Formats: sequence, C-alpha cells, structure tokens
Amino acid sequence: MSNTKLEDIVSLCKRRGFIYPGSDVYGGLSGTWDYGPLGVQLKRNILQLWWKMFVDDREDMLGVDAAILMNQKVWQASGHVDTFTDPLVECSNCHARHRADKLDDPNKCPTCGKTDTFGEARQFNMMFRTFVGPNQGEEVTIGAPLDEQKRSVDLEGRKAITYEPSSVSYLRPETAQGIFTNFKNVVDSFYPDMPFGLAQQGKAFRNEISPRDFVFRSREFEQMEIEYFVHPDNWEEAFTMWLKLVHEWTDALGLPTESVHELEVPEADRAHYSKRTVDFEFDFPIGREELLGLAYRTDFDLQNIQKASGKSMDYRPKDGGEPFVPHVIEPSFGLERSIMAVLAAAYTEDEVNGEKRTYLKLPKHLAPVKVAVSPLLKNKPELVEKAREVYTALKKEFGNVMWDDNGNIGKRYRRQDEIGTPYCVVIDFDTLEDGTVTVRDRDTTEQQRVASTELTSKLA
Ligand code: GAP
Repeated sequence: MSNTKLEDIVSLCKRRGFIYPGSDVYGGLSGTWDYGPLGVQLKRNILQLWWKMFVDDREDMLGVDAAILMNQKVWQASGHVDTFTDPLVECSNCHARHRADKLDDPNKCPTCGKTDTFGEARQFNMMFRTFVGPNQGEEVTIGAPLDEQKRSVDLEGRKAITYEPSSVSYLRPETAQGIFTNFKNVVDSFYPDMPFGLAQQGKAFRNEISPRDFVFRSREFEQMEIEYFVHPDNWEEAFTMWLKLVHEWTDALGLPTESVHELEVPEADRAHYSKRTVDFEFDFPIGREELLGLAYRTDFDLQNIQKASGKSMDYRPKDGGEPFVPHVIEPSFGLERSIMAVLAAAYTEDEVNGEKRTYLKLPKHLAPVKVAVSPLLKNKPELVEKAREVYTALKKEFGNVMWDDNGNIGKRYRRQDEIGTPYCVVIDFDTLEDGTVTVRDRDTTEQQRVASTELTSKLA
C-alpha cells in the first residue's frame, strides 16, 4: 500500500466519478471538492456505518443535528475567536502567503524560490466570517465619515465594508460546539444516564492557509463527532473505552491494523482545550498523517458556556448525588480523511491473464455499487430482457445495483473492478436454457454459475 501514489487515486477518483475538484468548470476553488455519483455513495456508506456503530447499536448515545451558523458568542466562549489560528508568513518578493509551520525550508518561499523573504509570522484566524441578516454590505471609502457610530469597518484595500458587529457569525470550524450548546436541551428532554454521548455529523469549514494533498486538508469538509459526557472521576476509563472503539472503527473501514498508529500528543501540541490527546495516524500515500483525534476536553466547553450564558450546565445524578458539570471525551472523525484512507487501503494492482489490472478492494459494505448486471450481448433482446428481470430484482433487494452493457464483457469487468464492485452478474445463453447466471468475484476473478432463483440469497 505504501507504494500507492496519491496521483493514481486522484486520477481514478476523477475519471470514474468519485471526487472532482470543486467548481471545476470555472477553474476550481482551492480547498474544495465535489463528490460524483460513486463518491457520494461511498461517503454515505461511511456516514451510515459510523451512525450505526456509534449511535444505533449503543444504549448510551443520542444524535443531534445543529445549525452550521451559530451565535458569535459560541465562538467567543469556546476560544476559537482568540486562538483558532495558524502562523502565516508572506513572501516580500512574490507576496505568496504560506503556513509557517508547514514549510519544508522555513527560509525559502516555495512559490518563487527566493530565500529570506519572510518576515515575522502572524497568527491567522481560520474561521470563515460572515454576516447574518441585512445589516451589512455598504461599501464606503476609507476615511469617509460613517453614518452610524455603532457600525464597524472592515479594512481591506482602499474600500471597506460596513457591518453591524452583532451580525457577525462564522461557518463552524468544528461540529463539536453544536453538541455542547445542546447539552442542556438534551438533558432536559431525555435525562439520560451518565455516562452518555451525543453524536453529530456535518460540514465544518476552515480557511486553511495551504489546503493540500487532495481532500486531506480541505477548506470545507465533514466531521463525525462525539462528545461523551462523564463524571470527572471516570474520564480515564471512558478514554480507554474510546481508544478501543476507535480501533474497531478503523477495522470496520478495512484499514490494515499495521497502518493505523496511535500518537500520544505532547502538551505543547495539544489544542487549547485538551488535557490528553491521542491522534490516530494512518500510513497515507502522502506519509503517516492524522486520520482522527481522541481528546479529553475536560469541562472546558461546558464551563465556558455556563459562564458566558449564565445558564447552569450541571448534571444531577439520578442517585441523589452532588450535581456536577460533566467532563468530556471527544472522538473526532474526519470524513474526507476516512475516504482517503479507505481508497488508499483498497487501491490494488495485480495481473490477470498477463494484463495489468487496477481494482479497489473495498470492504463490501462500503462499495458504492454492490452488484453490476450485464447481458452478455446487448443486441440480443432475449438476453437483455432476462438481464433486466435480474437487475430489477437485485436492485429492489440491494439498492446500489448498476446496469452495465457497455463494451465487451472483459472491459465491463475491468470497469467494475476499478470502482470496487464486489460482484458482476452476467446473463448468457445458458441462462435461457437452465436458469443459471454467472457471478464473478472482484477479488479472485473467479466465476460461478448460480441459479437465478437463488441469486439474491447467495449475494446477500
Ligand atoms: N472537535 C475537535 C476537532 O475538530 P481537529 O483535530 O481539529 O479536532 C478533527 O479535527 C478531525 O477533523 C481531524 O482528525 C481530521 O480528520 C478532520 N479535519 C480537520 N481539519 C481538516 C481539514 N482541513 N480537511 C479535512 N479534514 C480535516
């Protein structure tokens, strides 16, 4: 797997309709990606698997789905307005801006190649700022008197935009805050036993200085996050439980155990809210990098919400014990990095009948297309009719079934292998005689004859 090149995955993804560059037709928009028909199916399969494993199959988990736009106080209280920054340097020669801690050579501009052109790094806040409501947007010339005292001016170039400070909002840089802000609501509605977790899936946005490596570092991405609320005395036990559960998750994604590594993050590198963080790293084609994180966030967020909102975040134990503000263990999963890891682990090259073959050895439960159905020849109406019958029955059962009658049968197999379809079903002249069909296995390329009456149950 370490030999798999990122370019091969990127190229397969674009060619076969998994992932396209965002706004491709207009020359793209850096750090954004669009999912094609197969990509969206793979994405949904991962989201659904995660929800099943961590919400539906557990007694101690509930789900939420909060708004992306939140009151600006959320991001002030959470510390993101002040500290969600990366160090930025600008080249005095070509004016390209780079993330200072990600430069191969800290003195050399990777855009123009000049050395010693960077000044002091400044902290760049990665949240996308926006304005809610119609209280913004008048363009004024800098220096001109402002009509209303209360309006602020956003200075950029010679022109400026006026805005109501209270209308400022941010695209959320993590889904976690939508969980914390609903902690009290859920406790009031459900009064769950402690410990319990709240899960959320959804978009997050970061104005990354240098988006890179395909979807790995994007400006718009999706997170799958859990805030697991515990009594402060029990955080270590819960942390250990989640370490184990995260490994079960990476197994379910089909990632080889030896390619997944735990990294105990030293204090200096931890986020401002964390007392312990273990990053789960994966051997991506770009090297060993963070796949997801597990953090002990203490009561940092709930205490801040309590202070900023004036509302109690206490949990009252059902046994009549002392109320307390819960502590939190946070497993935080990135969907794009999961997809990239799954594709990298599945990307396989071998040789079939002396010919090079590229295929995605995806776990069957993640494959975007479960079965492809073909008539051996598309100009024989009797084969097409029978194949349509089989296709309709399988589609009703499995949903993601593809009709494929393009090119010769060898080409169809290669095409389906390349998108990771586990089984190809072919209807031929024997089918009309004895009611059997050919089922071809993606990984072994072996073919079996199966009675069409038993096809659904065999495939299931
Ligand atoms: N709530 C905690 C949190 O957001 P994080 O380590 O900043 O923690 C969690 O992000 C996960 O989100 C990462 O492990 C990664 O999988 C994903 N992620 C973060 N930034 C990303 C980006 N720019 N592009 C794609 N995925 C990203």
